[in-house]
Amino acid sequence: MIMQRSRRTVILKSAREIDIMREANRHTAEVLAMMCEATKPGMSTWDLDQIAREEIDKRPVTSAFLGYYGYPAVVCVSINEEVVHGIPRKDKVIRDGDIVSIDFGLCFEGYVGDTARSIGVGTLSTEAEDLIRVTRECLDQAIALCDPEHRLSDIGKAVETHAQNHHYGVVREFVGHGIGTRMHEEPQVPNYYDGLKPRLRPGLVIAIEPMINIGGHEVRVLDDDWTAVTKDGSWSAHFEDSVAILEDGPVVLSRI
Ligand code: MF3
Ligand code: CO
Ligand code: CO
Repeated sequence: MIMQRSRRTVILKSAREIDIMREANRHTAEVLAMMCEATKPGMSTWDLDQIAREEIDKRPVTSAFLGYYGYPAVVCVSINEEVVHGIPRKDKVIRDGDIVSIDFGLCFEGYVGDTARSIGVGTLSTEAEDLIRVTRECLDQAIALCDPEHRLSDIGKAVETHAQNHHYGVVREFVGHGIGTRMHEEPQVPNYYDGLKPRLRPGLVIAIEPMINIGGHEVRVLDDDWTAVTKDGSWSAHFEDSVAILEDGPVVLSRI
């Protein structure tokens, strides 16, 4: 989500709500996995959107993206220098060597699941492969700190430290977020250290989503008003998981 001023209060979830969110995220992860498996050179990003639409129709779920601030599709597909929010198009064709970042969200029994993954298509450059691996490691290292002993600020610190160790740029204009009956709830979850923040509390559910660039951290939005690209044209990767914080640590809801 876009970085903005905090407005609402944090909503902690009951065990029952977390069970529903587990189901919501299971559907989300299954459909994302189908899109990842289907991704081949020559197909368009519109084809991926079609796969997701068909799956949504088969399941007891609705899209969390379609119509969100007017968003016209059920999935975001961002390729290479595109960071997030790429709108699927028939003329946007996937090629060998591309990084394809797929972000998918849906609503099940009133609760939202949100997850994203970058994949390499065919034969990748070492640079692209390293970026994808390190971005996933950023997310994994952040998730490992999701317990009541740690603070919200430890998440951004972990992501930023790992990315900077590899001389990558950490996107600042988009952040992770609380998630529940709405896709974007408080708190915001930046991927960089932004001052000391409160401890993580049991019942908090957040989407952690590092967006990491090979070059500088700066992004701009294209004329379609959605697609965010790196300012310097360097390639970018994005991983996102929805994570519940419990007394004894994290439960990653969006992995199957
Ligand atoms: N799922 C994105 C996120 O991780 C937001 C997508 S916005 C939409 O926060 F408009 F495409 F739905
Ligand atoms: Co998302
Ligand atoms: Co998100």
